[in-house]
Amino acid sequence: MKEIKKIAILTAGGDCPGLNPVIRAVTKTAITKYGLEVYGVRHGYFGLYHGDFIKLGLEDVEEIITRGGTILYSSNKDNLFQYPVKDENGEFVRDENGKLTYEDVSDVAVKHLDDAGIDALFILGGDGSLTSARDFSRKGVNVIGIPKTIDNDLAHTDYTFGFDTAISVATDGLDRVRTTGMSHHRIMVVEIMGRSAGWMTLHAGIAGAADAILIPEIPYDIEKVAEKIKADKANGKEFSIVAVSEGAKSLDGKQVVLKVIEDSADSIRLGGVGALVADQLEKLTGSEARATTLGHIQRGGTPSAHDRVLSSRYGYAAVELCMRGGFGRMVSLQGDKIIDVSLEDVIGQKTKNVDPNGELVSVAKAMGVCFGD
Ligand code: F6P
Repeated sequence: MKEIKKIAILTAGGDCPGLNPVIRAVTKTAITKYGLEVYGVRHGYFGLYHGDFIKLGLEDVEEIITRGGTILYSSNKDNLFQYPVKDENGEFVRDENGKLTYEDVSDVAVKHLDDAGIDALFILGGDGSLTSARDFSRKGVNVIGIPKTIDNDLAHTDYTFGFDTAISVATDGLDRVRTTGMSHHRIMVVEIMGRSAGWMTLHAGIAGAADAILIPEIPYDIEKVAEKIKADKANGKEFSIVAVSEGAKSLDGKQVVLKVIEDSADSIRLGGVGALVADQLEKLTGSEARATTLGHIQRGGTPSAHDRVLSSRYGYAAVELCMRGGFGRMVSLQGDKIIDVSLEDVIGQKTKNVDPNGELVSVAKAMGVCFGD
């Protein structure tokens, strides 16, 4: 194995609490334990395409453990293996049907890494970004993956960093709307992120004592949710809290799409189901309903203590994995242990979803929560 002297760190996809603590842990471990040179790739894969590297020293990471976002910036659009073609004026080149055309520009990125003498690339990302990580690994780049996403939907790891902070924020959101629900006898609907996985809504819904939890894995019948709210009211409960995943599906299986971002690798942005559910529940129950969308508030701000510790463990383990030559692998939390798994296995599998018959759903149901099923 070639001796590892220079490494680079890249943060890709949506920002997430814990990115900076991972950057800090990788940089500190690499410099102080192994005397490596550390570089940051700025702006995610976009920066890798453009060779945008900066040197990182201990002083650059000293004060970042409390900071949300990423000091290296990120991009959630750029898949270098399927990159939209632009003409000399910067306009997209389209085919005869008006669709974008694509090319594979990954060789450009590999050349930048070679030119900079980078021996290993640490990629902090979710399933989209780690798919590219796997593809760079297949091209011979020494890649180490670190599992990031507030959605916690990545296969082969129990928890991604960022999830704990995001569910704490979502729980706080549920706690806060409870006040208005109680004071005004309203149905308070809170829309929670998570794409097509219901982990965030399920955890926050249990922690925030929601009366109904609507998640993508359990298609909901709005009539059943309304019946539950009416029954609670008949029993003297004058307000209701409904936690709904942005990706929740009614019985017709459709999700509510907020917007389509044409040049994004994952073009669908979900959103709007909370307002729809509130409107329907108001009509069906006769009680006033309001919707709140937490949106990017869930992704922002300082990482929780739990995420800072998990990120530090991941960062440290990632450097150790690199020094053992464990390329093409991702550090992962299984039980209480940090282990490593092949990126081929992580990406080869479907994303991780809530089991509709699993323990957490049973716990919620035992607490009287309605899933609309
Ligand atoms: O994957 C993280 C996430 O926050 C999802 O929960 C959400 O659907 C999506 O990213 C939003 O992406 P954007 O910041 O591009 O709107």
